[in-house]
Amino acid sequence: METVLSSARVGDMKEVHALLLKAADKGRLLPRSLADLYQHTRDFYVLKEPDGRPAGCCALSVVWEDLAEIRSLYVREDMRRRGAGSLLTEACMNEAQAMGVSRLFTLTYETAFFTRLGFSEVDKDVLPQKIWADCVHCPKFPDDCDETAMLRRL
Ligand SMILES: CC(C)(COP(=O)(O)OP(=O)(O)OC[C@H]1O[C@@H](n2cnc3c(N)ncnc32)[C@H](O)[C@@H]1OP(=O)(O)O)[C@@H](O)C(=O)NCCC(=O)NCCS
Repeated sequence: METVLSSARVGDMKEVHALLLKAADKGRLLPRSLADLYQHTRDFYVLKEPDGRPAGCCALSVVWEDLAEIRSLYVREDMRRRGAGSLLTEACMNEAQAMGVSRLFTLTYETAFFTRLGFSEVDKDVLPQKIWADCVHCPKFPDDCDETAMLRRL
């Protein structure tokens, strides 16, 4: 079935919130509040089915002059392994490159997926801006953080 990829609109964010809550319930992503999502609407891409139902989402978050992050990537379970996750991630990669960002990272459990897109595992210490902006506020920081940091040069 054809899906349509587009930049998120404010009207999409409640559904993005619902998608991300599903992943958060399973411990795959950190939960984000609706207020946080509205503030970051411009970061998001949304993939929709022809009837408008969201199939997945992904956000590009600029962290520093040479660094951006892939965040909140989620594809509905019944839509997986059909290229949706790659399409969403590549949209963020292309936008980061167009903006002049030279390094793109993610914190993830999905290492096989990101390896296939050209990311490699790195030590979290190479991402100090992320650690001091976000990780220090995370309940899992530092000892219980079990996500893998992965980086790709653009
Ligand atoms: C990770 C995720 C976005 C992948 O979405 P997807 O639409 O299934 O991804 P794609 O179909 O584009 O997969 C591309 C390739 O990545 C690899 N891949 C994807 N999911 C994989 C998995 N669970 N295990 C191993 N390899 C995987 C495969 O090589 C796949 O190609 P193939 O299907 O031809 O073998 C999806 O599984 C998801 O939403 N997971 C839960 C949330 C999450 O963990 N998000 C990442 C946080 S950074």
